[in-house]
Amino acid sequence: SAEELCERTRAAKRALGERVMILGHNYQRDEVIQHADFRGDSLLLAKLAAERSERPYIVFCGVHFMAETADILSRSNQTVILPDMAAGCSMADMAAIEQVDQCWEQLGRVVPVEEAVMPAVYVNSAAVLKAFCGEHGGITCTSSNAKAVIEWCWARREKILFFPDEHLGRNTANKMGVPPDQMIVWDPYQPYGGNGKEAIKRARLILWKGHCSVHQMFQPAHVDHFRKQYPEGKVIVHPECHEDVVNKADLIGSTEFIIRTVTAAPAGTVWAVGTELNLVNRLKQELPDKKVFFLSSTICQCATMFRIDAPHLCWAVENLADGHVVNHIVVPDDEKRWARVALDRMMAIS
Ligand code: 13P
Ligand code: SF4
Repeated sequence: SAEELCERTRAAKRALGERVMILGHNYQRDEVIQHADFRGDSLLLAKLAAERSERPYIVFCGVHFMAETADILSRSNQTVILPDMAAGCSMADMAAIEQVDQCWEQLGRVVPVEEAVMPAVYVNSAAVLKAFCGEHGGITCTSSNAKAVIEWCWARREKILFFPDEHLGRNTANKMGVPPDQMIVWDPYQPYGGNGKEAIKRARLILWKGHCSVHQMFQPAHVDHFRKQYPEGKVIVHPECHEDVVNKADLIGSTEFIIRTVTAAPAGTVWAVGTELNLVNRLKQELPDKKVFFLSSTICQCATMFRIDAPHLCWAVENLADGHVVNHIVVPDDEKRWARVALDRMMAIS
């Protein structure tokens, strides 16, 4: 039963004491979050992995790229475990290193790429792409520091190759007042990303054609519908949503920003929240003095985050208590070194 599983996980965790740290991303289910020592957005969890070097085992309840980031930032004496290896990210899968290499090579036929283009990769990406950025002078970003990262890039090179999320890049640039004609989209399945050479020469922001399958489900009509019902209500969304949704929202930010903002709002206020369902349901439960609604009428749930459940967590922690490491996440050393360079550049500015 659920209670038994919960008790078994607690017992294994107790047996491990200070040796283990369970990290839970804000999108994780309640049955997992209840065991987390810390929960947060991807930036916060990455920082925690780097700071808590006294704990040799990090059980990461989130998706694969987050566990890789924890492995890159943690010390060599630390072991990162992902309770289900199949917990990936559909957005991260939208940029393969071969495609990024090809893009870089094609851009290089148009401009002196190493001096003119700064690669910036969203942390929602494989470690090898972070390493690509590290090696080419570039940087990583998260949903909470994308603006600072874009400014950092433009202070150094005239163009940015931003991947793999088109929407985070565009929404951030829109907020910064960047004119739309300075942005182009790079479709990895077309030569030159589907752009003419003149357009590439003119562009300042090259947005990889990738998206989050969860956040793309929110529609502008959902905002209109909510506003009709609750004209006094506020709409808050994640920057992975389409710009047509973001432009209609009152506030935009990372999962941590969303939680902080709605939690701090006065009692009685009404909110429509455009991000993953588990986070929104938890906000509803934890903030009964406010009216919190899910922005969409359809279920927008991250299916891969959802793979981490009570049985997987219990299995990972019980094995650990028995002296067995299961689902060990190991980023190869050469990748780790360059990915760390890109992550450190980001950490230094946020
Ligand atoms: P945050 O960095 O805002 O936690 O978002 C991570 C994520 O996967 C959003 O889809
Ligand atoms: Fe990836 Fe989207 Fe899931 Fe975040 S919500 S982990 S971006 S698929």
